[in-house]
Amino acid sequence: MTQTAIKSDQHFRVLIPEDRLQARIQELGQQIRAEYGDEPVTCIGVLKGSFMFMADLVRAIGGPVRCEFLGVSSYQGGTKTTGVVRITEDLTAPIESQHCIIVEDIIDTGLTMDFLVRTLKVRGPKSLKICTLLDKAANREIPLTADFVGFSIPDEFVVGYGLDLGEFYRNLPHIAVYTP
Ligand code: IMP
Repeated sequence: MTQTAIKSDQHFRVLIPEDRLQARIQELGQQIRAEYGDEPVTCIGVLKGSFMFMADLVRAIGGPVRCEFLGVSSYQGGTKTTGVVRITEDLTAPIESQHCIIVEDIIDTGLTMDFLVRTLKVRGPKSLKICTLLDKAANREIPLTADFVGFSIPDEFVVGYGLDLGEFYRNLPHIAVYTP
């Protein structure tokens, strides 16, 4: 990626504006809280992409919420998945006997989420569900359905609101489509 491309806006169009994102996250939060009642929920944000979504979602869920993060690397800077998933940062506490929700920015092929579910299940959570802001279901290589989905989107590369291209654009307040 060249500096020119990073500075230019011509390769982007807004797919989901900020107000729609925020409204949907409020709905997701209420849906999640209704499902667990007064029980504590452990939200496990997948870094780095979910950091903004996680921050807004846990506030929308309200009530007793623990926040944990799991660092995962699967793309190494490009726009195509490598299929190689690696944990770069682990949880800080056990999740045994806790209601857990994996909070992800996007599920694309499903390889990363499949790896995360298998990795976390063996730690004995009381329950383990998946919440993803974006779902590119058409691109799935591993059959996998999220329990809570913000938006289903077409098979296009998106940036913003935590999602990056070569580590840039995570700070956009909306979701935009990148066209090379
Ligand atoms: P998967 O393993 O193919 O499902 O991809 C999951 C991970 O790839 C996500 O956590 C993102 O970090 C990244 N990813 C997938 N699609 C996109 C995209 O359109 N934009 C930015 N990152 C993406």
